[in-house]
Amino acid sequence: MPTVDIRVPGDKSIAHRALILGALADGESVIDEVPAGQDVLSTESCLQDLGVGIDRTGNTRRVHGAGLKAWRTPAHPLDCRNSGTTMRLLTGVLAGSGVTATLTGDASLCRRPMARVVDPLRAMGARIELRNGTPPLRVEGTPLSGGRHRLPVPSAQVKSALLLAGLSATGETVVEEPVETRDHTERLLRAMGAPLSATGTVVRVEALRGGLRPLRLAIPGDFSSAAFWFGAAAMRPRSSVRVIDVGLNPTRTAFLWMLRAMGADILVEAAKEGAVEPSGDVTVTGAPLQAIAIDGRQVAAAIDEIPILMVVATQAEGTTSIKGAGELRVKESDRLRAMADGLRRMGARVEEFPDGVRIEGPTRLRPATIDAFGDHRVAMALAVAGLNAQSPTQIVGAESADVSYPGFFAQLERVASAS
Ligand code: S3P
Repeated sequence: MPTVDIRVPGDKSIAHRALILGALADGESVIDEVPAGQDVLSTESCLQDLGVGIDRTGNTRRVHGAGLKAWRTPAHPLDCRNSGTTMRLLTGVLAGSGVTATLTGDASLCRRPMARVVDPLRAMGARIELRNGTPPLRVEGTPLSGGRHRLPVPSAQVKSALLLAGLSATGETVVEEPVETRDHTERLLRAMGAPLSATGTVVRVEALRGGLRPLRLAIPGDFSSAAFWFGAAAMRPRSSVRVIDVGLNPTRTAFLWMLRAMGADILVEAAKEGAVEPSGDVTVTGAPLQAIAIDGRQVAAAIDEIPILMVVATQAEGTTSIKGAGELRVKESDRLRAMADGLRRMGARVEEFPDGVRIEGPTRLRPATIDAFGDHRVAMALAVAGLNAQSPTQIVGAESADVSYPGFFAQLERVASAS
């Protein structure tokens, strides 16, 4: 069977951070391959509301940074829409700014927990109003002092918010995480000359003395978007998908090694380290798969890939168990419930627990009408499951894929017709 070549949009996590850090730098940052998904647009429009100049040409953004001191109090609440990363990272920056702002979002974001970021920021002296632990929240920028934070749950968003606050705090800010999470903020800050050091799960940052150097960055493809194609290929013996120039940051690629452990063939070519982030071309070829057992540490390393892993598990021989995955219940939807519900409607054997699932396979999936619960990753994972059903699967709320991956369904058709 021929290999299908695919390019995926630029990495969403890196894009949020590059835009925010560009807006904090002294001078013009040029960022290429910014993804067109709504989440990154939310960060962009919030920054513009804060007075930051951003020019757009195609997928390129020129961000006119003049330091945090140039940010202005916005005329109206900042709308982060569906994007938790936008809200949590901006809360961290704004905590130590001279600006007062209210941050809000859509119904899904307004259900998500924010105390995890607000509490440690308050310990640094931040003035933040938050009711019932969920958005909207109001940040009144004030001088901060550093400190040591031990995070109870692994969260790159919380870690990043604290590091960003630390850039304007007096003294050192230390963040210790229970397991290592994505380190895009740390890589970008180092590249921009910030006083930051990291060893394993401990990251330290000091207040900026000079400014941040502007960025020149081409964002690699989003591993979490590519994961849907890797999963689709893995489930079909001998079918192959190659994703060109996908991000290969080791804090993001655990899903590939899970697929390999299940029996899929993984080939990495044209790997390059890059000035900030590594990338390469990855080919996944399907094979008869075996079930695996995943614990909380592995879940944290593949946090956004668990929905597609659940789909792949329906096609593996044996019982796949995913434990320590309670965090999935507070994402854009309750992802354990949404995926268990959708897959069961398609005939899969899924048992749900408070912090995980057990999936018995293989099961030939059947067409059904299923609900994406307004969650982009659920919509895309269930669409890939639909490839395994004999006739069309209907996904209610499929348009939510646009949050991270506009064009996903056009590419899905290409993959479906090639195999
Ligand atoms: C993200 C971190 C993860 C991830 C989210 C993006 C980031 O969330 O699920 O999609 O860009 O930092 P948590 O940090 O809450 O685990």
